[in-house]
Amino acid sequence: MIVMGIESSCDETGVGIVEWNGDTTTTLLADEVASSVDEHARYGGVVPEVASRAHLEAIVPTMRRARSAAGVDRPDAIAVTIGPGLAGALLVGVAAAKAYAAAWDVPLYAVNHLGGHVAVDTLEHGPMPPCVALLVSGGHTHLLRVDDLGAPIVELGTTVDDAAGEAFDKVARLLGLGYPGGPALDTVAAQGDPNAIAFPRGMTGPRDARYDFSFSGLKTAVARFVEKCERVGDVVPIADVAASFQEAVADVLTRKALRACADTGVDTLVLGGGATANSRIRSLAAERCADAGVTLRIPRPRLCTDNGVMIATLGAHIIAGGAPASSLRVATDPSMSVQISSY
Ligand code: KG4
Ligand code: ZN
Repeated sequence: MIVMGIESSCDETGVGIVEWNGDTTTTLLADEVASSVDEHARYGGVVPEVASRAHLEAIVPTMRRARSAAGVDRPDAIAVTIGPGLAGALLVGVAAAKAYAAAWDVPLYAVNHLGGHVAVDTLEHGPMPPCVALLVSGGHTHLLRVDDLGAPIVELGTTVDDAAGEAFDKVARLLGLGYPGGPALDTVAAQGDPNAIAFPRGMTGPRDARYDFSFSGLKTAVARFVEKCERVGDVVPIADVAASFQEAVADVLTRKALRACADTGVDTLVLGGGATANSRIRSLAAERCADAGVTLRIPRPRLCTDNGVMIATLGAHIIAGGAPASSLRVATDPSMSVQISSY
């Protein structure tokens, strides 16, 4: 069974093609992505209208490239991100998926983007045992419990304000590091002292929700620190600020993820989303997993960011799990709950 996945929930137009091996794994046949990230740079964040327009321009060429790379004329099924994401952006991918499904007379599966970030790990690391998944990107920060990729996922916690990647981007902007600033901040932090400034760890008090996150207080603390330096005429110690901020984010993310593993008796942690490229999130997760006897699985960076392969892989699992195909009238769900795996 060959499954095509279409992704357009944010600023990446992705078309991926995989072959289901019938043993709970898939083989990657094509992975084509067109990103509009450069068009958003001067605004310091993703502009929904700009993203929608870019998807419209990119979808057909990306589809052509994927089919030609895979040597596949017509897949056996199409999976598409139906939510969560930007409303206008989702519409483009979903409209395309419906059109191709109707033209080729193949079934359509409208699937949840978040599950895709977890499912994609099976491409590199094989069948997935019950796990806790930590998704961190510019758009989402979720702690999930996944028992079966073809079935609904349980949300343990999420951010009550900014996504982790968004916090990286905002702090990077404050430090004059450009957009998206996460990677630049990571590089600068390597020269700094992670213990130089004691930035707050949001939502880690005894009465706070065990698995939820908050990064806006941390972002404000960084802003206040920078303002104070400027007011008294000190040079802002950019590397120390970056390293201390990054340490605070990595500490809270990995602390809560490992806590979820311990509480639920699960011994596999999967990371996903663009911000898992962060060197400190990776190293601290590795350290803490090793200490706790938890197996850490992280897809390669290319598969951590939004792409069509993750949607194709999730689609294959959902099809194999026996879910019915979606109606061609299915509507996008920009605020789709992670508990729903497909419509
Ligand atoms: O998954 P992704 O490509 O797009 C979505 O937001 O869905 O994630 C991009 C986010 C951006 O916020 C970017 O700054 C962050 O991931 N990011 C990083 C690093 N690389 C990417 N944040 C911290 N350190 C990095 N090395
Ligand atoms: Zn994503």
